[in-house]
Amino acid sequence: MELYRDIIAAPHTLIAGTTGSGKSNVLNGIIRQIMTDRTPQTARLYLIDPKRVELSVYKNTAFVDEYTADSLDALAILDKAIAEIERRYMVMEMQGIRDFHGTDIYIIIDELADLMISPENREIRRKLQKIEQIGRAAAVHVIAATQAPNRTIIPANIVLNFTNRLALRCLSGIESRQIINVSSAEELPRYGQGMYLSPDGIKRVNIPKTDDFTDIVSKWQRVAPQRTTTRRIPRLEPKKAPKEYPESVPMKNKGLSPQVAMFIAMAAIVYGFIGTALI
Ligand SMILES: Nc1ncnc2c1ncn2[C@@H]1O[C@H](COP(=O)(O)OP(=O)(O)OP(=O)(O)O)[C@@H](O)[C@H]1O
Ligand SMILES: [Mg+2]
Repeated sequence: MELYRDIIAAPHTLIAGTTGSGKSNVLNGIIRQIMTDRTPQTARLYLIDPKRVELSVYKNTAFVDEYTADSLDALAILDKAIAEIERRYMVMEMQGIRDFHGTDIYIIIDELADLMISPENREIRRKLQKIEQIGRAAAVHVIAATQAPNRTIIPANIVLNFTNRLALRCLSGIESRQIINVSSAEELPRYGQGMYLSPDGIKRVNIPKTDDFTDIVSKWQRVAPQRTTTRRIPRLEPKKAPKEYPESVPMKNKGLSPQVAMFIAMAAIVYGFIGTALI
C-alpha cells in the first residue's frame, strides 16, 4: 500500500490517535509491507512492545533482531541502535559519503507514551531524540504509535523530530494540532481514515484493515525460535551511604607471597649445588 511504502521510506514516523482508532492496525500493515517488499538482508526490525501483545507475533521471524516489552531492555535496544548509527557514521566518513547505503533498521514502538512514563523515561527520551537526529543519514528509522501525544508526556521536540506523522481519529482539535499542527483529525471516523503529514504536506488517507498476517509470519518464521539478543542492563540503585571505616586501617603483615618464597628456595638450592661443585 502506498501510504505504508511512503512511511517505510521516510526517516521517522509517528502514528497517533485515540484508543481503538487503528494505530496497531497501521503498525501491523507497515510490518507486513516490509516483510512483503524486503528481505531480512535489507531490513531489520527492533520491536518495542510495552503492551506486550501487539508485536509479539513477529518476534521469531527472520527480520527481527530485537523484541521486548520491558522499558529497561528498550533502553538497551536504543543503545544498540545508537552504537550501530555511530559505526555507520565511521564507515561513511571513511568512504567520504553522506548517506549510508545498506540495511535499514526500523525501531518500531507500540505505545510510546508507556515508555515515556516508565522509570527509564529520561534516558529513553534522550536516546530517542538522539536517534531521531542522527539516525536519518544512517538508515535507522523510528516508527512509533501513541495515544494523543500530550506534550507533558511526549515533549514537543520528540514529536517535531518525526518527519512524518499520521493522525488517526483524535478526541479534540487540540490533540490533532499536537500531531499534525492543524485540527481536523478529530472529525475523522472511528477508524479507517487518517490525516498524513509528510514533507509534501497534509493529505487525507484511507487505511484498510490489515489482512491476517499469519501467512507472512509463517513465511519468515525461523526454524528454531531465537532468543532476543538484548541484554538487560541493571536498574541503577540509589546510592547507598558509604560504610563507616575507622580513620586509619592498620596494614596487615601478609608475609611472603608463595612466588617469592619459591624463588628464594630455588636460589638456595642452586647456590648449594654451585658451592658443592666448587668444593
Ligand atoms: N482501518 C481499519 N479498518 C477496519 N477495522 C479497523 C481498522 N483499523 C482498526 N480497526 C479495528 O478497530 C479495532 C481497534 O484497532 P487497533 O487495535 O489497531 O486500535 P489502536 O489504536 O491500536 O487501539 P489501542 O489504543 O487500544 O491500542 C480492531 O478491532 C481493528 O480490527
Ligand atoms: Mg494498539
